[in-house]
Amino acid sequence: MPLVPMRILLDHAAENNYGVAALNVNNMEQIQAIMEAARETDSPVIIQASRGARQYTNDIFLRNLMFAAAELYPDIPVAMHLDHGNGPATCFSAMTNGFTSVMMDGSLSDDGKTPSTYEYNVKVTRAVVDVAHAVGITVEGEIGALGGIEDGHGAGLSEEEVKKHLTDPAQAEKFVKDTGVDALAVAIGTSHGAYKFAKKPTGSVLRMDVIIDIHKRLPNCHMVMHGSSSVPQELQDLINKYGGRMKPTFGVPVEEIQKGIKNGVRKINVDTDNRMAITAAIRKVFAETPEKFDPRDYLKPARDLMKQVCKDRMAAFGQAGNAGKIKLKTCRELIDFYKPAKK
Ligand code: G3H
Ligand code: 13P
Ligand code: ZN
Repeated sequence: MPLVPMRILLDHAAENNYGVAALNVNNMEQIQAIMEAARETDSPVIIQASRGARQYTNDIFLRNLMFAAAELYPDIPVAMHLDHGNGPATCFSAMTNGFTSVMMDGSLSDDGKTPSTYEYNVKVTRAVVDVAHAVGITVEGEIGALGGIEDGHGAGLSEEEVKKHLTDPAQAEKFVKDTGVDALAVAIGTSHGAYKFAKKPTGSVLRMDVIIDIHKRLPNCHMVMHGSSSVPQELQDLINKYGGRMKPTFGVPVEEIQKGIKNGVRKINVDTDNRMAITAAIRKVFAETPEKFDPRDYLKPARDLMKQVCKDRMAAFGQAGNAGKIKLKTCRELIDFYKPAKK
């Protein structure tokens, strides 16, 4: 099956009230872990690569690894998504390299760090939507800025700082109309990486009420939660047991994500949990069998543990059991869907 546009996966998820994990990759083992998890749970999948991943792996390797995934798992619909594109040029280069979906993150300026203006965000996002939709490719935009990206804070972010970066629901409503995005990333107090919250988050730092408000205003909008790793205690413990030094930290509880899914969240970005699984498994092999030096001896357990994390998320978000139910369309077949109605 060819790689599919993300839009059809999100539409099916919305029609059937579930969410889809968007899982970051940088190499073959991560793609294999996700595809095996998808096969074992019959899940549609979104596989995403950041700018850093594209630099590390190379677009041609990535594209061909993704084509291999599509060929080897013909029953699994897979979308290939650019995570946090920092400008139209980055999005366009992804579109010419096999990506079937792009994120134009205009909430930050093109340095990927400094919060931008609303006008800049609309201008760059609209420019990407115009081109992407003409070729049937999906676009995710972002309004509000995630805590952690632009200020380097993680756990211990003060309530004031969190509030400053939250998505304003009225502005979100206007942004969707002004840009025509297919999916909208919202800032509700999460941040990237392992150090999100100093204790189990309450409603004052993880603002699910913002999602509920946006869903009321935009019932047909596919919302995206970034920074949604749960940072499981078991993985923190495993890493530390085998010589790691992770500081105590809390992620986004799966129950909160499930609440989001009931209120319009359709794409849930998870990277850190998989990074932790890989690191925990490799540390264990190194600590218990230091005589080993064949990479397969530690990459296979790493891939297996990442697969387990992916399966857990696929079950929890409700995407499991849906791969075979989606009526598939290619990007080319979506072009007409995006064409403005002729008067
Ligand atoms: O956006 C955050 C993702 O976890 C990707 O991280 O930029 O280090 O590849 P990265
Ligand atoms: P985590 O760091 O919580 O896994 O978030 C990943 C993400 O949002 C990628 O865009
Ligand atoms: Zn993100």
